[in-house]
Amino acid sequence: MAEFRLETERLVLRDWREADWPPFLAGTNTPAVMQWLGGVLDEGRQQWLRDRLEGYARDYGHTFWIVERKEDGAVLGFCGLKRSNQPGGPQGDFEVGWRLREDAWGKGYAREAAEASLEQAFTRFGAPHVLALTVTRNAPSWGLMVRLGMERRPDLDFDNSEFDPEEGRIIVYRLERAAWEKMRV
Ligand SMILES: CC(C)(COP(=O)(O)OP(=O)(O)OC[C@H]1O[C@@H](n2cnc3c(N)ncnc32)[C@H](O)[C@@H]1OP(=O)(O)O)[C@@H](O)C(=O)NCCC(=O)NCCS
Repeated sequence: MAEFRLETERLVLRDWREADWPPFLAGTNTPAVMQWLGGVLDEGRQQWLRDRLEGYARDYGHTFWIVERKEDGAVLGFCGLKRSNQPGGPQGDFEVGWRLREDAWGKGYAREAAEASLEQAFTRFGAPHVLALTVTRNAPSWGLMVRLGMERRPDLDFDNSEFDPEEGRIIVYRLERAAWEKMRV
């Protein structure tokens, strides 16, 4: 299959390469980035993440793609599309997700990459709707969901302790195709 590659104004979203993993993990496998993702990954979980992200690309043609900054080629993190598979939650829906290294926060990169990912979901992959999952205490993440025009869907929330063991609940936002089309005009 041809490599997935997508350019935005400042970023490239593309399939993973072997050489991406060391800088990706150095930048994002930190206490700050992983605070609401179950904490820093040990080696076994790093391999598990890699297997999953490469598996999504192989199985669906989309994944949480590597995000590279055009200006200097720096690996900033990932952003893209998977299919929801969190235990206890909705299964098989398109899901948008993001994880950037800390020095890339606050610059609008996540939003730029997420908007491009949503456009791909609706135009290229034919998604009827797209979900996003997070936890109440991850305000930067649900803030982005709000900025993207996604709708809070408490009826889809579910019990799961993977991201925030104390709260034990994952909250859901969803964007319908019709709402996305309306935002574009
Ligand atoms: C969630 C996450 C990706 C959000 O990143 P972010 O940089 O805050 O999000 P955005 O790209 O929307 O950027 C918004 C910020 O950039 C600022 N900004 C600067 N230049 C900008 C530009 N050109 N365009 C848009 N926003 C810009 C905005 O003012 C805003 O700043 P503020 O938060 O101080 O108000 C980031 O916090 C992260 O990687 N967290 C750790 C991993 C994680 O928790 N992932 C989600 C799991 S559910």
